[in-house]
Amino acid sequence: MPKFRSSLLGIFCSAGLSILLAQEDQQNKERREENLKIAAALPDGPGKTILVERCGDCHSLGRVTSGKKSLVSWRNTIQVMAANGAVFEDKEAEPLAQYLAANFALPVNINSASVSELSAIPGLNGETAAAIVAHREKNGRFASVQDLKKVAGFSDALVAKIANRVTVGIQPR
Ligand code: HEC
Repeated sequence: MPKFRSSLLGIFCSAGLSILLAQEDQQNKERREENLKIAAALPDGPGKTILVERCGDCHSLGRVTSGKKSLVSWRNTIQVMAANGAVFEDKEAEPLAQYLAANFALPVNINSASVSELSAIPGLNGETAAAIVAHREKNGRFASVQDLKKVAGFSDALVAKIANRVTVGIQPR
């Protein structure tokens, strides 16, 4: 009798296991498909391949690309992921952090940021960043992001391009 029971148990267990494995397979497949879609829409850059190859195995890439963090904070997240079990080469960590910081960043406050912080925003350079600071020093705080249109050298298109990367912060009353 014990023998019969244990083989019955074995059948139940392996049936249960194969259902679980089939479910996991399905989830993996869905995640891979979702990741492919997200990857296709990601901006190009040296860190993109690292992101796509290293960061989509445990959770959707969307978990990463919906984040907004500073460079220091992205570096930290990457180390936390290594502790979670993410596998990547040491030399991949910094280019990945740079890529994430360049594309998934906290908005920069145009009322307080330095020229170097501003020039790191994709679309700006040393010259346009310096023009923002010069305008601020001469005219005072920006009341809205759209006020950037008043800065020397800023077209409507440039303001539109960087609009979601900048903020004016909380306005003092
Ligand atoms: C081995 C599995 C694994 C891999 C591979 C992995 N992660 Fe994660 N990730 C996790 C787990 C588990 C969580 C949720 C728990 C947590 O927040 O630590 C998570 C959560 C996150 C979050 C949301 C929480 C936060 O800290 O903002 C981000 C962002 C993230 N991962 C980024 C990455 C990046 C970037 C990579 C590629 C280097 C990566 N992950 C690769 C396991 C992994």
